[in-house]
Amino acid sequence: MKYIGFPIIMLGSIDSTNNYANRQIAEHEVVEGTVFLAEYQTTGKGQQYNSWESERGKNLTFSLVLYPDFVEIMKQFMISKVVTLGISDFLIKNGIKEVAIKWPNDIYVGDKKIAGILIENTIQGPVLAASVIGIGLNVNQEIFISPAPNPVSMKMLTGLAYDLEESLDQLLKSIMNWYNVLQSNGQKVIDEAFESRMYRYGTWSGYHCETGYFEGKILGVDEIGRLLIEDRDEKLRTFHFKEVAFIQPKKTELPGE
Ligand code: BTN
Repeated sequence: MKYIGFPIIMLGSIDSTNNYANRQIAEHEVVEGTVFLAEYQTTGKGQQYNSWESERGKNLTFSLVLYPDFVEIMKQFMISKVVTLGISDFLIKNGIKEVAIKWPNDIYVGDKKIAGILIENTIQGPVLAASVIGIGLNVNQEIFISPAPNPVSMKMLTGLAYDLEESLDQLLKSIMNWYNVLQSNGQKVIDEAFESRMYRYGTWSGYHCETGYFEGKILGVDEIGRLLIEDRDEKLRTFHFKEVAFIQPKKTELPGE
């Protein structure tokens, strides 16, 4: 990989930068590291068929194109790790405290969500051929109108107004640092950093899965990115994406804290 963020294609209003990037890849040659940046998305996509709210010109909404053909399909969660570590580094460097990675790939500050990621991978044989990494980072927006439960932005946290171009440059550099670690066989370093930044890591919290409510402690993720939670009976539970919901903390503390 050469450079993430070269070129940066500025789009005014677009349906979704992920859709646009996928169309471009299908129809043209797109250089690895290209970023498609939108001022506004008419149908910005979130996880689980949700939409992504972002006020025009206030935030960073973009898609980054990578061709990680050195990553095996079974290891595709490494891309999430690299990107979440990059975003969290950027926020920490900007003085934001309590930054955490909420599995699988949200960025939280305390119990509020500041960034979401939507990764769309194309597979070729046993490896990844292309990865369209859509990132929505709340930067200068102060009022959120969608029913998304707990949004927050950098400005809401610090009171500062941020230059989007400068922020994008810093953010892409942070992602590139971690992507370079992955390319130089630094999986162990990445795994440790990811685990140490996980939201609710090692603390008793409430969850909901198909068998109902339970309390558990996050122990990390397995090789393929499934979430590992130990419950009150010391049983290890393993979850794929969408199989478990995080229950928001109640005011009273859980036993064992
Ligand atoms: C989530 O639900 O947390 C994922 C949100 C991802 C939003 C970004 S904004 C840029 C890119 N284009 C989209 O349509 N979605 C992603």
